[in-house]
Amino acid sequence: MKIRKWLLPLALVCCCLGGRAAALSLIPLPASVQSGEGSFRFAGKVKVYADAYPGDSIRMVLQRFTAEFTASTGVKFRTAKAGAAQMTLRLNTALAPEAYDLRVTSQKIEIEAARPAGFFYALQTLKQLLPHRAVMAGTKGPQDVAWCVPAVTVKDHPRFAWRGFMLDEGRHFYGKEEIKKILDVMAAYKLNRFHWHLTEDQGWRLEIKKYPRLTEVGAWRNSKVLGWGDVKPDGQRYGGFYTQEDAREIVRYARERFIEIVPEVDIPGHSQAAVAAYPEFLSCDPQVPHEVWLWQGVSTDVINVADPRAVQFAKDVIDELTDVFPFGYIHLGGDECPTAKWEANEACRAQLAAIGSERYRDLQINFYRQLQEHIAQQPAERRRQLIFWNEVLHGNTAPLGTDITIMAWVGADGAARDAASRGMRTILSPQIPYYINRRQSNLPTEPMSQGSGTETVEAVYNYVPMNGIDEALQSKYMGVQANFWTEWVEDAATVQYLMLPRLAAVAEAGWTPQALRRYPDFVERLQAEADYYRLRGVNYGKHVFTQP
Ligand code: ACM
Repeated sequence: MKIRKWLLPLALVCCCLGGRAAALSLIPLPASVQSGEGSFRFAGKVKVYADAYPGDSIRMVLQRFTAEFTASTGVKFRTAKAGAAQMTLRLNTALAPEAYDLRVTSQKIEIEAARPAGFFYALQTLKQLLPHRAVMAGTKGPQDVAWCVPAVTVKDHPRFAWRGFMLDEGRHFYGKEEIKKILDVMAAYKLNRFHWHLTEDQGWRLEIKKYPRLTEVGAWRNSKVLGWGDVKPDGQRYGGFYTQEDAREIVRYARERFIEIVPEVDIPGHSQAAVAAYPEFLSCDPQVPHEVWLWQGVSTDVINVADPRAVQFAKDVIDELTDVFPFGYIHLGGDECPTAKWEANEACRAQLAAIGSERYRDLQINFYRQLQEHIAQQPAERRRQLIFWNEVLHGNTAPLGTDITIMAWVGADGAARDAASRGMRTILSPQIPYYINRRQSNLPTEPMSQGSGTETVEAVYNYVPMNGIDEALQSKYMGVQANFWTEWVEDAATVQYLMLPRLAAVAEAGWTPQALRRYPDFVERLQAEADYYRLRGVNYGKHVFTQP
């Protein structure tokens, strides 16, 4: 017994003194990594120092890191003066906003960044350098591990400013705790935009105080399963929504992880749930019954854009989104908006004539123009940038100007190039291969998922963003985003299964220089993530792991 007590610390010291580090399992791969000799051991009371910053936010980033580290490992920290500290977080305003330098020697850990986000990312990298994923997962770590990080110099910055993930909760609703798990995984991979698709034909998921029926009526439907072909609605009462207080809790959680939330209210199409809640002014035919949709696909029951009360409704919704989400962007959808109801509606036909167009798509643009003008009249701190799906480009976008962002999904590369050529910003979220709700393998165990296609981990990884784009247009490309539509996905475990590890592949496209990306190397680094997923309690696709 006595011998074993002596052996353990000896073994820990030996591990720490081990020579040059083995291949490091970092995802996303940093822009530059140079391994050194030896390693730094977290032991005793580690002395830490962080520079001051407005709002003390660098110290808050450090404090969260040390608190999580202590809870997981028992290692303690105490603050010290810069010169005496073993771990320092120093400002370097020459670095880009999310960039960081991290230098680990056997004596010290030195981090430099220009902004709190850079320090946060450096610490995410540091967590991935630890010998165990418990700290990253926020769980109690094993007792027999030496908490060392190998000597290394990392100089890192993201390729793109926008590194996103979208979840559709209109079709199925998962709840706060599931969203928090997703935000944790996103933060682990340095993703920074959570696009929350909150409204659909099949459900409205956010409380809007001025329009309570949106959630009293619009958040509930008479089937959990969404009908499609031979699959019929099951008659179960199903639904759910987030109160504004819930959403604010998610906002705080996201902010601590340097993730901005981009709320999407998809209007005027994909809006049957809203129309069912307020048919008297949102529908083109209020005389007939409307219900929250029970089917997959694209409903023709769109908002009546020619009714001034519908325009006021949209402005009011934007105002409440602005209250709840203190970030830069609001997404107004704009995809797959059938115009049949407008074509049959007298007020819509009159409005089309009034704006001097013959294309019904331009009614949609005219609707957005009024919302854009409303936002422009707000005080600066309440002004939000608008994002639209790329179908908006089929209308005459001139009235919207170029200060909008096009999220390119269908024919994404061409649509993004079109948007950029027209002077708009753009985000690449190509349906193929970045719709990671589609099957991720051809194994018989693969769950039911959207469409007939399979987007393998390799195919997702190998997509090259901004391929062959002229340098003059490149500044319009904000970044990349994976999307997850949930028509077929009723439970969070299946969302996670399909999302992982493909989200890690997209994260690397968003962060790592293209010239450094190699799929076999990614798969090798990925192996350590199985532990992270298990410990964080998230499901994942196991077929690319040798020890799942
Ligand atoms: C979309 O996939 N309809 C944006």
